[in-house]
Amino acid sequence: MTARLNVNIDHVATVRQARRAPEPSVIAAAMACEQAGADGITVHLRGDRRHIQDNDIRLLRDSVTTYLNMEMAATEEMLKIALDNKPDAVTLVAERADEITTEGGLDVQANIAIVRAAVAKLRQGKIITSVFIDPDPDQITAAHDLGAQQVELCTAAYADATLGARAIHGEGAARAAQELRRLREGATLARQYGLHVAAGHGLTYRNVGAVAAISEITEFNIGHNIVARALFVGLEAAVREMREAIRAAGVQTSRWVS
Ligand code: PXP
Repeated sequence: MTARLNVNIDHVATVRQARRAPEPSVIAAAMACEQAGADGITVHLRGDRRHIQDNDIRLLRDSVTTYLNMEMAATEEMLKIALDNKPDAVTLVAERADEITTEGGLDVQANIAIVRAAVAKLRQGKIITSVFIDPDPDQITAAHDLGAQQVELCTAAYADATLGARAIHGEGAARAAQELRRLREGATLARQYGLHVAAGHGLTYRNVGAVAAISEITEFNIGHNIVARALFVGLEAAVREMREAIRAAGVQTSRWVS
């Protein structure tokens, strides 16, 4: 079975916010992604509002007909916005004001009381609740214990090892294979707990195949690389190409699979 693709359109909003202009519209972007076969739309409402704005969440909730996944920190402010707008799913993430992008998984073990309370409130609101964590057995166990329905495994370390020429030679290839093994083992453990398994962060047309070959992973959240490709081929074509890269995973063998 091919994993679902949620397209993260944060960086459409990044371009818009660069000029505080009405364009490009994230709603138009979401519609184009759905038209091209995306299974869902993902947006991250950050505390600093650097890209997605509160009004985007309202408008997206009215217009997205596939699946709306809202990434957010487990704060009271964000919980209220999520419960008011009712995205289909919320993914709880770690957030630091000075980071360029989400830097790694949420430490659910260290923040267990806060995350447990947030998960309970979201589930009461009938919102599917996922936690974005590193593929670490202790974090996966904690996510299960606190009542999350899904884990999104952070692929950042794997993606970093596959960047550019690093992936082809020595240390990069070895690290990519090792990170892929962690993702595979993490996905297997999460499934044993009955959790749904998503993955994302830093995935590209070139490195997604090896992760998509892990059959326990049923959802991808991918943004930056699709929006970057869209500059050259348009958003619809960029989404179709990513869907194809995921679909082809079962057929291809990857140099990173060991
Ligand atoms: N998943 C989560 C939880 C994220 O925070 C992000 C980045 O916002 C992504 C997936 C998408 O990452 P990328 O833009 O690198 O594809």
